[in-house]
Amino acid sequence: MSEISNETRFLHAIEMGLGAWQFGDRVFWSFGQTHNDADIRAAFETSLEAGIRFVDTAEVYGMGQSERLLGSMLKTADQPVLVASKFFPYPWRVHRWFMKYALLNSLERLGLERVDLYQIHWPHVFVTPEKLMGWMAELVQQGIVRTVGVSNFGPSQTVRAYTTLARQGIPLASNQVAYSLLNRSIEKNGLLERCRELGIRVIAYSPIAQGLLTGKYSPEKLPPGPRAINAAATLGRIQPLLKLMTKIGQDCGGKSNAQVALNWCICKGTMPIPGAKNAEQAQQNAGALGWKLTEEQVQALDEASDEVVK
Ligand SMILES: NC(=O)c1ccc[n+]([C@@H]2O[C@H](COP(=O)([O-])OP(=O)(O)OC[C@H]3O[C@@H](n4cnc5c(N)ncnc54)[C@H](OP(=O)(O)O)[C@@H]3O)[C@@H](O)[C@H]2O)c1
Repeated sequence: MSEISNETRFLHAIEMGLGAWQFGDRVFWSFGQTHNDADIRAAFETSLEAGIRFVDTAEVYGMGQSERLLGSMLKTADQPVLVASKFFPYPWRVHRWFMKYALLNSLERLGLERVDLYQIHWPHVFVTPEKLMGWMAELVQQGIVRTVGVSNFGPSQTVRAYTTLARQGIPLASNQVAYSLLNRSIEKNGLLERCRELGIRVIAYSPIAQGLLTGKYSPEKLPPGPRAINAAATLGRIQPLLKLMTKIGQDCGGKSNAQVALNWCICKGTMPIPGAKNAEQAQQNAGALGWKLTEEQVQALDEASDEVVK
């Protein structure tokens, strides 16, 4: 692995974070129906108590509501919290001004003067990684962004972003990508390895496959909302993997499927950021820390995942 820069060392020290898409998002996560303000505050506070102090949000989550709710919780938090947010690359945002304006709005909703990590949510259709990183570098120089990340960038886009920032003496801190036992494309396309070589922290989103790896859903009991659309076929296929996860969890002293799924991400060198809708989920997810799957268990899970994800 290449040397990790001092500026981004804090990210490599974080084993797991909390995803905040569930905060205030009504369309995908049914905020207001399956969970409410009190539930997410309890999820946030439970995570902090369990030592999870990194929260990932985005300007588009709940159309700003996730940042707003997080901001109100940060005000009463009894310990420092590291906050990551994201710039959404709407196609018309083709000038540096849009990024600064978006960030200032995020900071206002969060009640912060600077974010610890500012990420480009997706590659831009019209603006090159070089240009985007140039805009980001200016925000670092202005002191309103502590470290720069990308999200959903492929291997070559990541290297272009890394190289551009490096020319200005700024490290690329992270790439946030989908990664779980049901989505291992970053292992197969070389991104995970490339990030390891360049000292870029890989942040794993949807690490429990949006609930599918918990074992609580089945072809007969589909998740609510838009997740149901593709879930039936997947849930039909992945039963052998779910059974193995349950068995391994038992062998590890009674760990749940969610904990096995998250621990597997950590064993692969990534930082999972599971979303939680309430204190119970947050508590359970925090139980993925403090122990490790063996190499043999990781390998058995890899093989079972290869069998069901073609
Ligand atoms: N950069 C990007 O493009 C991108 C994309 C997606 C997500 N993200 C980030 O990554 C975070 C996590 O990903 P995600 O929210 O897509 O999926 P996830 O973390 O894999 O799944 C979260 C969902 O699983 C269920 N769940 C969580 N913990 C559970 C537990 N212990 N037991 C049972 N069910 C549990 C909950 O939904 P139910 O109770 O309704 O089943 C929860 O909303 C997001 O919050 C967001 O910050 C980023």
